[in-house]
This record gives sequence, C-alpha cells and structure tokens, in this order.
Amino acid sequence: MKKNRIAVAYSGGLDTSVIVKWLQEHYDADIITVTGNLGQKKELKGVAEKAYKTGAKKVYIQDLTKEFVEDYIFPALKAGALYEQSYPMATAIGRPLLAKALVEVAKRERCTAIAHGCTGKGNDQVRFEVAVMALAPELKILAPVREWEFKSREEEIAYCERHGIPVSATKKNPYSIDENLWGTAIECGVLEDPMVEPPADAYQCTVAPEDAPNKAGVVTIEFRQGVPVKIDGKTLKPTALIEKLNTLGGAHGIGRLDMIENRLVGIKSREIYEAPGATILHFAHRELERLTLDKETSHYKAKISNDYADLIYNGLWFSPLKKALDGFVNATQKNVTGTVKLRLYKGNLTVSGRTSPFSLYDTNLATYTSGDTFDHASAEGFIKIYGLPLKTYHKVNRSNSILRKKKLLRRKK
Ligand code: ARG
Repeated sequence: MKKNRIAVAYSGGLDTSVIVKWLQEHYDADIITVTGNLGQKKELKGVAEKAYKTGAKKVYIQDLTKEFVEDYIFPALKAGALYEQSYPMATAIGRPLLAKALVEVAKRERCTAIAHGCTGKGNDQVRFEVAVMALAPELKILAPVREWEFKSREEEIAYCERHGIPVSATKKNPYSIDENLWGTAIECGVLEDPMVEPPADAYQCTVAPEDAPNKAGVVTIEFRQGVPVKIDGKTLKPTALIEKLNTLGGAHGIGRLDMIENRLVGIKSREIYEAPGATILHFAHRELERLTLDKETSHYKAKISNDYADLIYNGLWFSPLKKALDGFVNATQKNVTGTVKLRLYKGNLTVSGRTSPFSLYDTNLATYTSGDTFDHASAEGFIKIYGLPLKTYHKVNRSNSILRKKKLLRRKK
C-alpha cells in the first residue's frame, strides 16, 4: 500500500516538532513540513535542519513576505481593518496566507491531508481550516493538538526525548508569541490575569514610553491610492517601508496595545500586541482619508471597516464577501494619495500636517478672512428647512400645550 503523505504547517517549536513524529506514528505517513516566512524577525535558519532531524521526508521554507505585504497587509490597511477598533490583526491576516502556502505544497506533493499545530480554543484553528476548506476541499484536515494525549509541555518534552527529537535547550519563554512583519501577539503566563500589568519582558520590539527619547520623532509618509510608498520623501519597497516604521515606532514606544478581545470561539481573552508600523500606517492612512474622502463615503466606509475586520478576524479571508468589500474599498482609495506628517513622542502619535492633490479641503470655503467664498445668505434658508422637523415636534410637545391637552382630555371624561 502507498504511504499516506501529510503536509504539516511547521514552525520548529515544540508543538509542531511533536506533531511531525506523532503523525508518522499514528498515520504511518510521510511528513512534508511547510514553514512560511511572513517577515518575522525570528531567524528561520536551522528550521529546515531541525525538521529533517525530527523525521520530515521533505522540507519547504517559503518566503511569503512580498505576497503578505501586497495581497494581505495592504488590502487590510486600505480597508482600515482594526478588530474591535483596535487590533491590526497581524496574526489573523497571516493565517490564510500560511494556509494557502500549505495547500500549494500539499497539492504539489500529492498529499491527502494537511495538519496544523493550533489548539482547540483559539481563532487560528478556524482561520487555518476554513481557508483550507475553501482552497482545497478534498484535503483532510488534522489538528493533533486538539486530540493527542499530552497534557503538558513536560509530557511533550518527554515524548521528544523518547524519540530523539531535538528540543532546543533554551528556557521556555513564559509567553506564547506569534510574530510577523505586521505585528506581534503576546499571551499566556501572568498576562492571563487581566488586572496584572504586563511585565517589561512581555514586550518584544517596543520600548516603554517613559524610556523613549525626550525629543519627538518626525516622519512624513506618502501614500498612492491608499498604499504607502515613501518615507521622508524616499521611495521604499513595501517590506522595507514597514520594517522602517516598526523600528522607528518601536523606539518611540508606539504601537503597544493591551486589550480584552472577543474570540470567535466565544471566549474573552487578554492580548498584548505590539505593532508599531501597523499603528503608524493605519493612523496616517486615516488622516489622509479625512482630507480626501467626501463625507458620505468616509462615514459609510467606517462601517465597512468594521465588517471587514470582523470577516478577517473570523477566518473568512477567501470569501466572496471579502472580495466584494475589496471592490468597495478600492473604489474609495482612488484619491487617497498624498502626504501625512506625524510626530512620535513617548508612545503618542499625532498628526502635524497633511496634503494631497485631491484634497477636498477648500481654504476659501473654510476661511474666516476676507477671502471667504461661502454663501452666508444660503445658510439662513438651509437652517429653516433643516430645523423644521424639530420645530414642529417641539411646538406640539411644548409643556404648556401638553397641559392644555391634558385638561381637554379630562373634561371629555
Ligand atoms: N488573539 C489574536 C488573534 O486571534 C492573536 C493570536 C495569537 N496566536 C498565537 N498563536 N499566539 O488573532
């Protein structure tokens, strides 16, 4: 009989290492590991070697950074997608791309199943599996962590030792960390108590605001149709641009977030995020939209941003609705071109200027000087009509007229 072939989403950490061996044992399968580079700073060197040592038949390390920025980060940025108005969703937008890479390898390698290392109470299992269901419904999905016998990290380590799987000697990080170019998510350990202030060592890439420089940083960001293209007048490749803002923002304590969020699986969880570049870009992008979007589109888009964020957070990246919303968002971005000037100071981000060839700000209309072209006389008629419903309502409901009506009612009885 031909051996099963399973493609495994592999990070090189403890769980996914155990998975490789565990699947070989339980499914008598050849394991092909797939590791995606989403621009995380954590070194991927050594991951391939480790996968082979753990028993992988074949190993794929895929550089997905460019695709991640162009097809995942920028659409989410243009959409203004912040889950529960706050979280820029680095993890949530990374998962569908990892799933896509996994499916591609699974198909090329004629696998019949894929496996991931997500637990049974997070969002990531949903995002992974729904994406695989959309892209390759014929593939079986395995989630060993949801079903295996190990109850603790120690048991997993003992299993590794029994099977000669290399476990890195480094001390266990007290937190569970997921990192990519768009941001870092930090959970577990003492952070599980929502009243406990995150210890300094929980933060990976930002300084505490009080340790940030006493002098404000100033940065200008130029956008073309909603996409950032230049920093301080210099054109940068998308990845380099985000990296630069991560470094700059991190040094000024920008982009820290401590939030209680609603997971798709019904749990409230406490999450710490660091996303300096994402925070700066969302902020700057929104400021440019204030200048370039007409009022109705701007107000309507805020509702779409919310829906878009929910959709992505809840694992529906490859849905027809997501595509349709992208159509709307792209139409709104036609004139979101221009430059925003920001100040970064001890964890705070403020806008200090904005300009655009498509600016809808008309000085002649806004000014209180002699250059004023606004038609003041029209205001009178406008207000008369605009206020008419309220005037009518209050005429009927004035207190003395109510009294009169009550008396009338009493007399009738
Ligand atoms: N709660 C966030 C989300 O659902 C972050 C999850 C982080 N994942 C992790 N494996 N640490 O997007």
